[in-house]
Amino acid sequence: MTALNADQSPALMMSAVVAMATNRVIGDGTGLIWHLPDDLKRVKSLTMGCPLIMGRKTWQSIGRPLPGRGSIVLTRDQNWQAEGAIIVHDFDAALTAAKAWIAAHNAGCEKIILFGGGEIYRMGLDYCHEIELTVIDISPDGGLDAALFPELNTDDWTQQIEAEIDPVGDVPGYRYERWYRAHPPRAL
Ligand SMILES: NC(=O)c1ccc[n+]([C@@H]2O[C@H](COP(=O)([O-])OP(=O)(O)OC[C@H]3O[C@@H](n4cnc5c(N)ncnc54)[C@H](OP(=O)(O)O)[C@@H]3O)[C@@H](O)[C@H]2O)c1
Repeated sequence: MTALNADQSPALMMSAVVAMATNRVIGDGTGLIWHLPDDLKRVKSLTMGCPLIMGRKTWQSIGRPLPGRGSIVLTRDQNWQAEGAIIVHDFDAALTAAKAWIAAHNAGCEKIILFGGGEIYRMGLDYCHEIELTVIDISPDGGLDAALFPELNTDDWTQQIEAEIDPVGDVPGYRYERWYRAHPPRAL
């Protein structure tokens, strides 16, 4: 059942959505280092209608706003501009912008999505209620600028396996996991 606030609006939560290799590499700093079309479809369905909080490097790796979602982009550069990005300079401002996006575009939205990359996951995981994690059975060298997903303290999180996908041809095997926080996260 959906939790409600006192004014009957849905209670807001934060969900991290991420795909990582078994060595926790999520990208080489400029993009992904795998192509899993079904995982991209899953990301689309998990994030549609929600605001995404991402770092400037992740924004640049995508290169455009994702349709039907708000793209809230963190940068320290006060002069940086990008069409379609909602630009913020600290995490509190990102949360404020995400709530404003929901109020303006989709009042029924219950989730702010922590969308990466590595720096932004490190900053935002304390606020997350859940993690939608794809684990890919490869162990790539992400290079000098490799981005990693942080280690999770299993005292704080409960893991649930959602699905296992076998390798096919050049496509490695992977699995979908959902991690729930054992105790309430930092307040949004
Ligand atoms: N596999 C996945 O699920 C997934 C998901 C997302 C991204 N990725 C990959 O991850 C890589 C990018 O990750 P990354 O860790 O290198 O970079 P990132 O987290 O996407 O972005 C880092 C940038 O965010 C800004 N930033 C960080 N902390 C900030 C703060 N406290 N205040 C304001 N701005 C702040 C800075 O931008 P400025 O330098 O402009 O100041 C910083 O350079 C790419 O390879 C991407 O493809 C993978």
